[in-house]
Amino acid sequence: MLQIKLIQSLTGIALITIIGSIAISSNNSSYAHETHQNHENKAITASVWDKSTVNYNGSKKITVYNSPSCGCCKQWMAHMKKHGFEVTDIKTDDMETIKRKNNLPSELESCHTAIIDGYVMEGHIPADDIKRFLTQKSTNFKGLAVAGMPIGSPGMESDKIKQPFDVVAFNNNSKVTVFKIHKNY
Ligand code: CU
Ligand code: CU
Repeated sequence: MLQIKLIQSLTGIALITIIGSIAISSNNSSYAHETHQNHENKAITASVWDKSTVNYNGSKKITVYNSPSCGCCKQWMAHMKKHGFEVTDIKTDDMETIKRKNNLPSELESCHTAIIDGYVMEGHIPADDIKRFLTQKSTNFKGLAVAGMPIGSPGMESDKIKQPFDVVAFNNNSKVTVFKIHKNY
């Protein structure tokens, strides 16, 4: 009897944990959506991210999967084009499948997912970081990510707010390492 009670209460805790994490993740996505909309109408002309300081001779062809309603994805693609990348823009309503297919750790999810040279580039990564990463021809890492949608990052520019953010590298086993820290940019 005591054993049954114990099992029941453990199941209860597990359920609460599951429900709790679902609530947290749905909160995150509604925040991301709001940020999207706030930025959608803003035309960005000049940005601190325009300037390149990396000498790069690698692949220029990048495929960017993004949702048709995503304004900041468009802005990020414009950022990449300014750095000389040739963007293939693929619209899809099923970004989840793209992210799962590419073994993206779920805590690193952002809006768009891009593929270049067999590597995965998730979210608002500065073009120069992508160039530095690709030059290393890493066999340890599957790609880079900027989790969420930091305000101030390329495609998310704001006059007033510049959130510090990390560009991280990840591998197929969800091992995550800091690649570049951006603050006071
Ligand atoms: Cu975005
Ligand atoms: Cu995006």
